[in-house]
Amino acid sequence: MEDLRLGVIGLGLRTSLARAAHRPGRGAVVAALCDSDPAVLKRQAGTFEADFLTQDYRELLDRPDLDALVVNTPDDTHERLAVDCLRAGKAVYLEKPMAITVEGCDTILRAARESGTRLYVGHNMRHMGVVRLMRDIIAKGVIGEPKTVWVRHFVSYGGDYYFKDWHADRTRTTGLLLQKAAHDLDVIHWLAGGYTTRVNALGDLMLYGDLPRRAPGTPRPDGWLQQYEWPPTARKDLHHVVDVEDVSVMNMRLDNGVIAAYQQCHFSPDYVRNYTVIGTEGRLENFGDGPGDTVKVWNTGPTGYRDDCDIAYKVPEATGSHGGADMEIVSEFLRFVRDGGVTDTSPVAARMSVAAGYMATMSLRDGGTPYDVPPLDADLAAYFDRGQVRDQTEPGGAPGQ
Ligand SMILES: NC(=O)c1ccc[n+]([C@@H]2O[C@H](COP(=O)([O-])OP(=O)(O)OC[C@H]3O[C@@H](n4cnc5c(N)ncnc54)[C@H](O)[C@@H]3O)[C@@H](O)[C@H]2O)c1
Repeated sequence: MEDLRLGVIGLGLRTSLARAAHRPGRGAVVAALCDSDPAVLKRQAGTFEADFLTQDYRELLDRPDLDALVVNTPDDTHERLAVDCLRAGKAVYLEKPMAITVEGCDTILRAARESGTRLYVGHNMRHMGVVRLMRDIIAKGVIGEPKTVWVRHFVSYGGDYYFKDWHADRTRTTGLLLQKAAHDLDVIHWLAGGYTTRVNALGDLMLYGDLPRRAPGTPRPDGWLQQYEWPPTARKDLHHVVDVEDVSVMNMRLDNGVIAAYQQCHFSPDYVRNYTVIGTEGRLENFGDGPGDTVKVWNTGPTGYRDDCDIAYKVPEATGSHGGADMEIVSEFLRFVRDGGVTDTSPVAARMSVAAGYMATMSLRDGGTPYDVPPLDADLAAYFDRGQVRDQTEPGGAPGQ
């Protein structure tokens, strides 16, 4: 089996994914690199021994030697790049969030269907041990039927990662309740077995709005992501535009009746996600979200507070970035490019997480008014549910295409 040849577009922090994908002799090589910033392109040039380098992603589109393109650029570029790659017939790995608007997601989904090109969206949390463990516990019926999901996301490095560059500018992301929360909104949908239909949210820019900013065009300072300032009020060198919220609290009603809540804060001392799922016969909660951490289940009672649970599950050991999830998600993507078929990630689910986050952002900027989440066109959803295979009855469609 020959290695698939990948072109990677966007060589910033998420080059970690390209490193996970570069496995010469074991399925794939990174054969072409693209970054619009010449300094970044030069810096990464030696990393992969790629034989084609460009600042313009359009130069990758008609290269017959590339099997697939990995889009790792900022969120506001996803729609344009993904649509162009799909129309050029290149299988796409598109980083999350799929796009920064609901309409942007639907445009990408339509381009995938119309071109018949394989689209994969990088929701790597579906390959994280703690998420898969919680999903297994629920699937085995250990807590009965899930009815409510509550997620708290403590983002210790929020001020560094999210307020020192494009993430802080709502024209580039819509907001962090979409940008950052898309991961957990997707996981909530996956654990609960439904999609959000109605949301409301409150949020504010509480801490990072008044801290010192860099002048426009100034690069992120050296060590910007390693040398955290503490306390958060000591942070400086923020992006010149800061207009996204650093605290947000969101409520959701899902199409299967489940009620969920998601909370995010960017000036917590610790970084962790904490999930609680309560079902008709028990509840689960994770303590730590990495390999070796614990998911506890209480499924007898009623009692008062008990630290000792009924069953404790250990998150399996794993190595590599994002708790081993990046290696796993790349393996699934490579298999999907070669053979198609069902995947644990889903472009439809990716769209639904953006849609929930987008409408929640509209709600929090409108005093918490509840908003309905626009449903996805049923025919489009069916195309992806079939595993991106055109229906025989579609114009130009034939089974297996
Ligand atoms: N799944 C995950 O766990 C995860 C983690 C981090 C980031 N992400 C996602 O990955 C994407 C990239 O994030 P990042 O942190 O690496 O950003 P970054 O700012 O560090 O890097 C982005 C790079 O893209 C380049 N770029 C911008 N526009 C371009 C264009 N039109 N053509 C070519 N290059 C272009 C920039 O010069 C920069 O080098 C985002 O969508 C982000 O949400 C996902």
